[in-house]
Amino acid sequence: MKEITQQSKSLNDTMQNMKLQIFTLSMLIGLVVLSPAAAQTAEVKTSGYELMTNKQYGNCIACHDMPGVQGLTSNFAPSLQGVGRKYSEKELMQWVVDARKFNADTLMPPFGSTHDLKLTRPARVILSNEQIAQVVFTLQSWR
Ligand code: HEC
Repeated sequence: MKEITQQSKSLNDTMQNMKLQIFTLSMLIGLVVLSPAAAQTAEVKTSGYELMTNKQYGNCIACHDMPGVQGLTSNFAPSLQGVGRKYSEKELMQWVVDARKFNADTLMPPFGSTHDLKLTRPARVILSNEQIAQVVFTLQSWR
């Protein structure tokens, strides 16, 4: 009787072990299958809207009112409501890359150019081309 109990105990242990192994294996497969997709999303997708509202990126709301932002917004610069109707894709791109093309004395920072800037920090653009394309895509949707 004791033997049987022990046998079934060890069978039970083996089953538990197998379950654990299957679990570990499926976790590993899960990681291998999911991680490239997850990594890609994290890398590419900071949305245009996020780029415009986040202080680390464009922080356009420091000067502009824009759709979807509630509460106190700046009226230093014109509202961005309807800019997708007002300007072509190319013009919007120019505004964001370097607004000095439209107004040589503009107070809007050139987000995609370091041309003629007198910087104390090492010269680098504020937004990458890819980020600017995403911002422009969002601007275009505001019609
Ligand atoms: C420091 C303030 C400031 C910031 C930050 C800023 N802008 Fe501007 N922006 C301006 C000003 C001022 C104008 C008006 C043109 C001028 O006076 O030269 C303007 C004009 C524009 C225009 C043209 C609007 C129109 O109706 O003619 C667009 C489009 C624009 N900004 C987009 C952006 C985007 C996108 C960002 C963020 C990535 C941004 N701006 C950040 C100050 C700013």
